[in-house]
Amino acid sequence: MIDGKKVLFSGMQATGNLTLGNYLGALKNWLTLSDEYECFYSVVDLHSITVRQDPAELRSRARKLLTLYIAAGLDPKKNCIYYQSHVSCHAELSWILNCFTYMGELNRMTQFKDKSAKHADNINAGLFTYPVLMAADILLYQADVVPVGKDQLQHLEITRDIAQRFNAIYGDVFTIPEPYLGKSGAKIMSLQDPTKKMSKSDENLNASIYLMDDKDTIIRKFKRAVTDSEGCVAYNDTQLGIHNLIDIYSACTGKTPEEIVKEFDGKGYGDFKLAVGESVADILTPLQARFYELEKDKAYIDGIIKENAEKAGYYANKTLRKVQKKVGFPERIR
Ligand code: TRP
Repeated sequence: MIDGKKVLFSGMQATGNLTLGNYLGALKNWLTLSDEYECFYSVVDLHSITVRQDPAELRSRARKLLTLYIAAGLDPKKNCIYYQSHVSCHAELSWILNCFTYMGELNRMTQFKDKSAKHADNINAGLFTYPVLMAADILLYQADVVPVGKDQLQHLEITRDIAQRFNAIYGDVFTIPEPYLGKSGAKIMSLQDPTKKMSKSDENLNASIYLMDDKDTIIRKFKRAVTDSEGCVAYNDTQLGIHNLIDIYSACTGKTPEEIVKEFDGKGYGDFKLAVGESVADILTPLQARFYELEKDKAYIDGIIKENAEKAGYYANKTLRKVQKKVGFPERIR
């Protein structure tokens, strides 16, 4: 608890470009959480180097991501948006937790198996202990809830196991975090294959709308979106492409699927796709304008980065000191 509020922690990697799916499925909902929770959103650059990165590129993407979160409406005074690498407690706690995590547990992580298959030439120890760093992220802030995608649930599970194991030995040191399911956002599918989630790493560039796509690109991608030969805008489980477009239009306009089906009764897919594209551009254009404005204001963003790193560092240090004391490190001399 911080100031009577429950704590929420989530981390995001600055790899790949955020998509409309990330925005409608997650980010948009986060905007409403800061009243209820004390929120920490970390740009997890320590995690990013578990696969090889170009340094300049990583630095620039990290800053863009941080700026984009603010442009999307997360108030940086209410939400602690910061770089993981600016708070060294993450690495320190991670080491300690490594000593409370078993090889066998880490060996079961499906993401490790997937990533080591993908990066067979660089199966480094960091990739293996990635979930422990993630546990450190979460436990440092005594987070009550962690909004994560399905792919990260296993890492949250191991975080809970590590925390419980530690607490069983040393007393109640860590809050045991729960996954945040909340009001789930719209699940946005690929425009080229509506059985697959829209992903920032899709090789087919027409499959995803990126948050920084301009209006022409957005409209063009929607025109090419895969549909069916029914030729009628209906909301059902067989016309998956149209179903996805209705979900997107609904999320962007606030109209219900029923209203949308009525609106396009008797109209062709061409008209519908254009309307969906325009509704998306209506949301992304002002977001992009805010992004470019913010990006120009270097001093403002620098100020946020510094202030939030200090704020995060304050809470992280409190937990780290407690842990260091529990495991038997000597007290600091003041
Ligand atoms: N591993 C997460 C991902 O790739 C990012 C992450 C790092 C994270 N630390 C976290 C998510 C802590 C939630 C909580 O998506």
